[in-house]
Amino acid sequence: MQLLDAAPVAHAPGSPRTLQLGNLTLRSRYVLSPLAGYTNFPFRLAVRELGGLGLATTELVSTRALLLGSAKTSEFIETCPQDAPLAVQIYGADAREMCDASQWLENYGAAAIDINMGCPVNKVVKNGGGSAMMCNVGSTVALVKSIVEAVRIPVTVKMRLGWDDLNLTAPNLAREFEQVGVAAVTIHGRTREQGFSGNVNIAGIRAVVEAVESMPIIGNGDIRSIADAQRMFDETGCAGIGIGRGALLNPWIFAQLCSFEQTGELGFVPTYDHRLDFMTRHYYLLVEQRGERYASLTFRKCGGWYSKVLRPGKEMHQRIMAIACAADFDAVAETLRAKGPPPHWKAGELPEIAVPKGPISHW
Ligand SMILES: Cc1cc2nc3c(=O)[nH]c(=O)nc-3n(C[C@H](O)[C@H](O)[C@H](O)COP(=O)(O)O)c2cc1C
Repeated sequence: MQLLDAAPVAHAPGSPRTLQLGNLTLRSRYVLSPLAGYTNFPFRLAVRELGGLGLATTELVSTRALLLGSAKTSEFIETCPQDAPLAVQIYGADAREMCDASQWLENYGAAAIDINMGCPVNKVVKNGGGSAMMCNVGSTVALVKSIVEAVRIPVTVKMRLGWDDLNLTAPNLAREFEQVGVAAVTIHGRTREQGFSGNVNIAGIRAVVEAVESMPIIGNGDIRSIADAQRMFDETGCAGIGIGRGALLNPWIFAQLCSFEQTGELGFVPTYDHRLDFMTRHYYLLVEQRGERYASLTFRKCGGWYSKVLRPGKEMHQRIMAIACAADFDAVAETLRAKGPPPHWKAGELPEIAVPKGPISHW
């Protein structure tokens, strides 16, 4: 467990800091990192309502599937004016397809295109996409350049430090990307080989910051508190911070980081009831998007994260994971509210970040 308490920091509080991605000015330096299956349209909307979010990104979208009009892909890019600014993350390996898809997305209204070079799963890397792109600098830079030239909106890249410790290509790639006009690069401070194991390599992220001239680098990995974010800023010199799993545990983290930046105070710390309110908002936004059946199935995926924080006990956890309709959800939410938090539950206390299970190649 870790408390959200702000650690003493070097920065004096001040006015809100923004982040510039090419011609796009983000309201804050804090972005929601894509988490396939979780950071969908309803979740993004619910998080945006809490404040502090500078940018959200869709989960990775296959450019081929997008051009073929796949129904699943249309769902991945579903959005509305309140869900802005939104970057769409693409993956693929074919330059023509990726340029065509980027142009299509620009017309669709995407605020930015984010190219996925971090995904470790076999389905993506076997065709040369995701983290496999980090292995061939020459062809990858040429591909990225063609996408930058195909659209007017900012193009960003999200990658890991490299394929493995012997191939830390991120600094070199980032330098090259800056030269061809990429607006920002997000670095998840692990290698593909590492998966989600071990710690984030802060020195590795700093090496990327030092390799570029002025392109913003967004530091990413394991951030779940103000102190984690401060460390990322102070020790890497990054311009912004990406938060994925930490936002599932604490969707208020973006607002809290902004509050801390401006006042030196954490600001709002959600109680148990606030967390139930958020869970309810999230569920009903899912219902609005796709109806009760879909919402319930999708929600079950997040059930584990809610249970980690609410600690409702085994039986209630099983009920959360079995929600099949809005009536089930309402009954679960009412029971949790009536029961109240478990003994020793403290607002602001967070569990460890969960790591995806199973072999890297199958996530
Ligand atoms: C379940 C899951 C799904 C993910 N999906 C994506 C994705 O679609 N695109 C991407 O670039 N990264 C994806 N990631 C990586 C995250 O964006 C992020 O880089 C990583 O989780 C480290 O940041 P965090 O510790 O803040 O979660 C995913 C990670 C997880 C755990």
